[in-house]
Amino acid sequence: MSGSSLLCFCVLLQCVSSAVIPTGVRRNDSPIIGVLAQEVKTPTPGKNAYIAASYVKYLESAGARVVPVMINKSEEEYTQLFKSISGILFPGGSASIESSGYAKAAGIFYRLALEANSKGDYFPVWGTCLGFEKLMLLTSEKKLLSRTNTSGVALPLSFTSGTLTSRMFKDFPAHLMTSLANEPLTENSHKWSITTKSFKGNEKLKKFYRILSTNTDGQKEFVSTVEAYDYPVYGTQWHPEKNAFEWTRPYIPHTPSAIKTTFYMADFFVNEAKKSLHSFSSQEEEQNALIYNYSPSYTGKTSIFEQIYYFE
Ligand SMILES: *[C@@H]1O[C@H](CO)[C@@H](O)[C@H](O)[C@H]1NC(C)=O
Ligand SMILES: *[C@@H]1O[C@H](CO)[C@@H](O)[C@H](O)[C@H]1NC(C)=O
Repeated sequence: MSGSSLLCFCVLLQCVSSAVIPTGVRRNDSPIIGVLAQEVKTPTPGKNAYIAASYVKYLESAGARVVPVMINKSEEEYTQLFKSISGILFPGGSASIESSGYAKAAGIFYRLALEANSKGDYFPVWGTCLGFEKLMLLTSEKKLLSRTNTSGVALPLSFTSGTLTSRMFKDFPAHLMTSLANEPLTENSHKWSITTKSFKGNEKLKKFYRILSTNTDGQKEFVSTVEAYDYPVYGTQWHPEKNAFEWTRPYIPHTPSAIKTTFYMADFFVNEAKKSLHSFSSQEEEQNALIYNYSPSYTGKTSIFEQIYYFE
């Protein structure tokens, strides 16, 4: 009797202290993940917004389907879509993280995700590169990024004391963790970073995220991988999707360990999305939303992306 009341007490305590990371009981094996579109720099008719296809293939490779999240939609439309998808990925790119359609949509989904997760409605959020930078801005509500010399370089990760026990990396094979720490497997294509110093100097960031890796450009040390302590919010300043799916630049790594990095990262996030029980209200609505309604263009001859989905 006292045993069972102790159990109740512990369960309750756990609910309070880390409200939103459940141990995972129910699972949705048909996750559908939103990938956020962004402005095309020089729009042409029918091509105002885009998603690089590598993000789509990345998620599909680990057993998810993808829905494009269009920019410039109303808050009501985003709220409706939020209830239908199992997670969202904010991709890299060059849209403004302060004033673009990308920035606006990311802000809405981030807020909806925090609200939902606080109520036990699991909804993972991932930011890659620009998406990572947007997460830093959303969480800190401050402009903390610094210029770094990191546009086009593959780097090994410098792990922190929290890496091996993190949700993100704990199930990675030991040999891959050794490779990640010693070989240049993570591709960086960014001009802005959050330095470890700026990150640690900001109370909101420090409280919200655990740093899982850092890197340096030779001058400045910056944060390269994070996971939120109490929310399924994740970010990498580097590009896990490029290793397996982009071939346009010589510095993109394609070694066996580099390809495994792509798949283990995708596997992690898709499994996070399987903990969300969101779904479309009808099969027809789901079918109409899927990215299968669009075809990517081959752009590798002129772009850094092999294939791009363009949207009106
Ligand atoms: C989104 O809206 C902005 C203005 O709010 C506009 O400049 C831009 O062209 C729009 N983009 C698309 C893809 O509709
Ligand atoms: C930037 O980094 C590259 C290596 O990635 C190096 O070759 C180059 O000299 C660096 N530039 C500056 C200005 O530090």
